[in-house]
Amino acid sequence: MMINRKPVEKRAIYPGSFDPITNGHIDIILRGEKLFPRILIAVLENPKKETLFTTSERIEMIREIFKGHSGVEVKAFHGLLVEFARKNHARIVIRGLRVVSDFEYEFQMALMNKNLNSQIETFFVMPSAKYAFLSSSLVKEAYALGGRLDDLVPDVVEKRLYEKFRKT
Ligand code: PNS
Repeated sequence: MMINRKPVEKRAIYPGSFDPITNGHIDIILRGEKLFPRILIAVLENPKKETLFTTSERIEMIREIFKGHSGVEVKAFHGLLVEFARKNHARIVIRGLRVVSDFEYEFQMALMNKNLNSQIETFFVMPSAKYAFLSSSLVKEAYALGGRLDDLVPDVVEKRLYEKFRKT
């Protein structure tokens, strides 16, 4: 039987707000690295959405974390994700799926992206169970209220959170 082999995808996009990046996001990127030779982390720059960290700060933290990883790139994007993917020659979008409540939004987003560009495929990746509850919003809330973030964010992120919330 002839198997029609399609070219292997070289580059996948992992988009998000990353305000800030957490160990849950990192877990997904490390899993993605095993599947794709290049991962482009696309940091959403949305003037309508207020973020704790500026786009440059969010990018700096991610670059610092992945500085030894030659296959990982980080760029800001605005506007349609599918357009950014097209311009960057990527057809695969990676998204983490933590809990059932993520599913509806993620499913809608994946179908909308496919509707906008039928070439785009979304790959859902499950994080380690220890990060299933983790989100950037909860990290910010817990830290702002004096909570500890053991094993939830890398040191570089905790340092930046300290500068935002605790430094006098
Ligand atoms: O980490 P987040 O905030 O859940 O990421 C959401 C993100 C950035 C993936 C999503 O908001 C996005 O793709 N925004 C770009 C705008 C777009 O393309 N919208 C149409 C698809 S629904």
